[in-house]
Amino acid sequence: MIILKTEDITAGYTEIDILHDVHIRVRSGEIVSVIGPNGAGKSTLLKTIFGILKPRNGNVTFRHEDITGLKPDRIVRKGISYVPQVDNVFPSLTIQENLEMGAFIRNDDYSQRLDEVYDLFPVLRERKKQKVGQLSGGQRQMVAMGRALMLDPQVLLLDEPSAGLAPVLVSMIFEKIKEINATGVAMIIVEQNARGALKMAHHGYVLAMGRNVLDDKGEALLANEEVARLYLGG
Ligand SMILES: Nc1ncnc2c1ncn2[C@@H]1O[C@H](COP(=O)(O)OP(=O)(O)O)[C@@H](O)[C@H]1O
Ligand SMILES: [Mg+2]
Repeated sequence: MIILKTEDITAGYTEIDILHDVHIRVRSGEIVSVIGPNGAGKSTLLKTIFGILKPRNGNVTFRHEDITGLKPDRIVRKGISYVPQVDNVFPSLTIQENLEMGAFIRNDDYSQRLDEVYDLFPVLRERKKQKVGQLSGGQRQMVAMGRALMLDPQVLLLDEPSAGLAPVLVSMIFEKIKEINATGVAMIIVEQNARGALKMAHHGYVLAMGRNVLDDKGEALLANEEVARLYLGG
């Protein structure tokens, strides 16, 4: 089943269009990676799906429902969570407080969910009373993902989860992404680490200058010489 799709999305921040007729489809339980050069519109696409930016044209559909133009607070209630690239944690709050903020719209008992998030990221459990501002980049990224997971989303949108991390932490975050996916969460991952992102992806999309260039199975894109030359650094 297609759980999330965009059709013919045209969007921009001013009167200038940044995205032009962009389409993307995510099947249930799938990892979809979106790659492309800096400025291609990858972050803009996630912002449009999450309702931060209203498209000028086109549709976003989630589980057969048209959610185009809904605000983020409505979209998050439907089961889509978003981890922006920057400012995705509250540095002056503790780990536990950050995770609790993630559960802000839940009025049920979320203690079991909190336990599951700590099981996924045991290092966060050990330091739950520590302020997030004191953590390393990799640990902060775990807090950001954990916060988004507190609502038990069906789809998780991740903007550059590996940005700025040392290589060993990049692998660790990618492993965590696979673990999250294995629990049944579908994901759209935007990454400049295109090779790593395509390795985990069931399906990949290449965006350039705000347009769809190509999409295929992750492994097929990795094996594509032109993709390798243009987007994977040879
Ligand atoms: N808040 C903004 N206001 C105006 N233009 C923006 C804003 N954010 C991004 N852009 C422009 O939109 C284009 C696509 O940016 P972005 O979606 O961030 O690309 P990517 O994530 O692929 O690097 C770029 O030309 C960028 O300068
Ligand atoms: Mg970006």
